[in-house]
Amino acid sequence: MRFGLKQSLNLLLRFQPLKEFLHSFFLLFLEMESRIEGEFDDQVWQRLEPIYIGARRKLLQLRMWRYGPLFVWDNARPVFDKLAEHNLSLEGKVYCDLGCGTHHPYGTSAVMYINGAASTIATDLIDTDKKRAAEALYELLQDCLANPDVWHWSDLSRDEYLDRVQSFNFKALRVGDLEAGIGSAPLRHIIASIYETAIEPDSIDIMSSRSVLEHLLDFEVACNRLFVLMSPSGVAYHLIDLVDHRAYGSPKHHWWSFLAEDEHSSDDLCNRLRASEILEFFERTGFKILSYNAIAKAEMPVGFRKQLKGRFASMSNEELESIRIACLIKKPQERSVPPAPKI
Ligand SMILES: C[S@@+](CC[C@H](N)C(=O)[O-])C[C@H]1O[C@@H](n2cnc3c(N)ncnc32)[C@H](O)[C@@H]1O
Repeated sequence: MRFGLKQSLNLLLRFQPLKEFLHSFFLLFLEMESRIEGEFDDQVWQRLEPIYIGARRKLLQLRMWRYGPLFVWDNARPVFDKLAEHNLSLEGKVYCDLGCGTHHPYGTSAVMYINGAASTIATDLIDTDKKRAAEALYELLQDCLANPDVWHWSDLSRDEYLDRVQSFNFKALRVGDLEAGIGSAPLRHIIASIYETAIEPDSIDIMSSRSVLEHLLDFEVACNRLFVLMSPSGVAYHLIDLVDHRAYGSPKHHWWSFLAEDEHSSDDLCNRLRASEILEFFERTGFKILSYNAIAKAEMPVGFRKQLKGRFASMSNEELESIRIACLIKKPQERSVPPAPKI
């Protein structure tokens, strides 16, 4: 049987290393071409078009796309639902997205604003690519405008919701001008560590964070800072990822590997606190726990219990196997000064 060119190429492409090599080569070529000032030549844009369309459609459906609307929805909606469960509303409140990340720093804040927050603060240690952040915000706000049923959650009237969406400068965002795009909308982005005093004390009415608190290595000091920042009666909803983060990138580690290392060692990435310890810190600082859930549980590898070190060895499986938790905490009305940290 004679093989045509197409069949031969198909067969060759089954050879994985060759496929990977061609992929990398092609992507490198495209990346270089995209970075060169000026227009694509005819052949390039024609090849790029189906890739752009296909990739864009896929990205828009991908919840893990960190610049995409679905990523923001997944972050913001559970906060909104949790507040609603406790009859709490965003209206007229100062909202803070703690550890907002570097990809889409304004995403969750913008959604909280169009749903009633008076103003917002997105804060993180690390700054962002402002042009990319503007484009991501443009994409999100377009979706909020086109699909109000998906994004309008609050009791604000539909007109007010739409006015808020349209208070952003879409033209400026589209071309990557973040400052002009935000315009006079009351959204701030503060680049600072939670340990610094960049945010005014007693100023945050509603705070949320996702996958941030496990990175606060001096948790006692951090908790005191959080307490100081919250306004009296302010509430915070924190999702905390209790796993060994090295497992995300290395098959040598699993979710619990760090619990078999010396109790006082640190990978400088995670504080290794378990759920009950975190709750204890919150309470000791003066927060009231309004709700607590282990939102993900998993079984430790068989035989791993024997390798646990220090205090982890005496913890129950129930405790160790809670790998993601959600806590809604409240700063009481009457106290505004947290207890001094224990020496
Ligand atoms: C895993 S990312 C989560 C980002 C975002 N919340 C999300 O869900 O995509 C953790 C973020 O916390 C920030 N972070 C870590 N330590 C911090 C600190 N001391 N103060 C403020 N932000 C911090 C990091 O810079 C990082 O952007």
